[in-house]
Amino acid sequence: MEFAQALFLVVAGHNDRQEHLSRARRLVLKVHLSASLSEGESVRFLPPIFGEVRLIVHQFLDRLMHDSGRPIPIFNQNAGSLDRRMDKAEFDRFADAYEDQHRENIAVTGEGPEYFAEYKIKAFREIVDRAGIEVNRICDFGSGIGNSIPYFRRYFPEAALTSSDVSERSLALGRQRYPEAGSCVLIENNRIPVEADSFDVAFSACVFHHIPHREHLTWLRELHRVTRPGGLIAIFEHNPLNPLTVHAVNTCPFDENARLIFARDLAKRLQAAGWASSRIQYNLFFPRALARLRPFENKLGWLPLGAQYVATARKV
Ligand SMILES: C[S@@+](CC[C@H](N)C(=O)[O-])C[C@H]1O[C@@H](n2cnc3c(N)ncnc32)[C@H](O)[C@@H]1O
Repeated sequence: MEFAQALFLVVAGHNDRQEHLSRARRLVLKVHLSASLSEGESVRFLPPIFGEVRLIVHQFLDRLMHDSGRPIPIFNQNAGSLDRRMDKAEFDRFADAYEDQHRENIAVTGEGPEYFAEYKIKAFREIVDRAGIEVNRICDFGSGIGNSIPYFRRYFPEAALTSSDVSERSLALGRQRYPEAGSCVLIENNRIPVEADSFDVAFSACVFHHIPHREHLTWLRELHRVTRPGGLIAIFEHNPLNPLTVHAVNTCPFDENARLIFARDLAKRLQAAGWASSRIQYNLFFPRALARLRPFENKLGWLPLGAQYVATARKV
């Protein structure tokens, strides 16, 4: 109970960081110590994983309290705040080194960028099939250097793909890597340059945490405009409740200005932007070392501890 309360306080700690964090940390520490001291009594009935989880959370809170280096992305009050202007060409600077930096940053999981790119498109295919949507036209919003393209080809071989991004350099690299990939559009002036109802589905992977939060509604409305009635949106994002994800984001050069989004906030914003039936599914629970457990991941979509989540909604 206290453990859950501590986690809740961390989540609630947006505006009152120090007070909530120290309270949360004290509680976790108390639970951790009392459990360790009473070894052989009540604790012996707990599976060992509880001890590991306690330690991870404890270390995570410790890091939040004492990290004197870069700001913690979930609590970074500068990124996405009212006075911060997003540099539209931010990813033009990172585009050439993106693949290598990304690979290095996620090496701890034992997987490469291909694994993470494929899992999203595979999950997206399952989502649209469950929704019974015929997919002929896909918008990849914030497509970057085209890491998803091979998997769109594999899982949606019949569909026309439109890659879209604010970074001209990223789009150019995507075209160079996959010349037959479909069309590309450069996003400018807060607009995706296509007509209304142009797509059956809209997809976005790890883009919204790079967009100032106050601009989310604008982009969710724009994606609503370009998606046809009956269509669907799927937004894959990092989960700020997962300590390893937060650590990875905090140490990644191109995530310097990132500000993570709680799943429930994104679901609310989707509704506010006119989307209906928003849902959350959590993903990526096991690193490569525990790959044998991955077949159970589809039973854990409700558990807010996955490294990422996908928010989906429909246009009515
Ligand atoms: C971390 S990269 C992800 C790229 C790609 N989705 C992937 O999974 O490999 C984030 C991308 O979002 C793009 N981006 C940032 N703000 C955007 C916006 N307002 N509209 C469209 N794309 C944007 C960046 O230029 C960058 O290419």
